[in-house]
Amino acid sequence: MAETPLLITDTGAVRVVTVHRPDKLNALDAATLDALHAAFQAAEADPSVRAIVLTGSGPKAFVAGADIAEMASLTPTQGRDFSLRGQRMMRALEKLSKPVIAMINGFALGGGLELAMSCHLRIAADTAKVGQPEINLGLIPGFGGSQRLLRLAGRAATLELCLLGAPIDAMRALQLGIVNRVVPAAELEAATMQLAGQLAQSAPLALRGTLDCVNVGGECGIEEGLEYESAQFGLMFSTEDMREGTRAFLERRKPVFGGR
Ligand code: COA
Repeated sequence: MAETPLLITDTGAVRVVTVHRPDKLNALDAATLDALHAAFQAAEADPSVRAIVLTGSGPKAFVAGADIAEMASLTPTQGRDFSLRGQRMMRALEKLSKPVIAMINGFALGGGLELAMSCHLRIAADTAKVGQPEINLGLIPGFGGSQRLLRLAGRAATLELCLLGAPIDAMRALQLGIVNRVVPAAELEAATMQLAGQLAQSAPLALRGTLDCVNVGGECGIEEGLEYESAQFGLMFSTEDMREGTRAFLERRKPVFGGR
């Protein structure tokens, strides 16, 4: 049986999913795309998981892109299917009800940046490099990069990264709004786990409501988005967590959220 392309560990309520093909700089072949899809569905279904960290094995790469060796001989139909396979997984990731942090420990190129952009937060080592270099292969982004980068960083940055194909460093990615935080490489894991731990203690249903509002609001007009937010806001008043959070504030103590 083929070795699994993922490592999965739990630290308290934080699940860490690591793409584990270090000899290929964690490139995404079809088997890895499917394994990631299954891993995210499993994390969604497991009530003991409240936050997820996604990263890559080894010191060099988060994910260096779609697997070029696998792509090289695809037919047009197979190319479209490969694109859809990646897009489906990343859309499911983006729509997960639990927060996912991309811990960018090195190269996040092509499919790697597309994967990171499908996560809800991105924290990068100061040594990391990100980019959409598909143009150098005579290709374009195929896992949603042209669409998500546009929404995340705007038209100028998207056209610069996708037309020129040159990677940018972590600080430039921060300036462009592509990553949320940049930390020294030696502190990346601790900083990420601290952030994930905070999310794992936060109110799960309110996290979910926030993710839903941003996902829906990103795709509709302001009137529908505001209406959706009000409906979600109202729904929060049915949760024990909302009663606990407001009571704890008034009693000057730390809330304990159970996700009910
Ligand atoms: N797909 C398949 N294999 C990949 C890969 C990818 N996207 N990226 C790296 N690898 C493999 C290399 O082929 C090499 O394998 P080998 O040792 O069997 O020859 C191994 O990973 C190490 O990569 P290497 O290129 O030797 O490392 P480097 O430090 O010299 O360069 C990069 C690092 C990231 C600059 C370089 O690997 C690269 O440009 N990768 C492709 C990036 C890309 O175009 N991604 C978008 C794909 S659509």
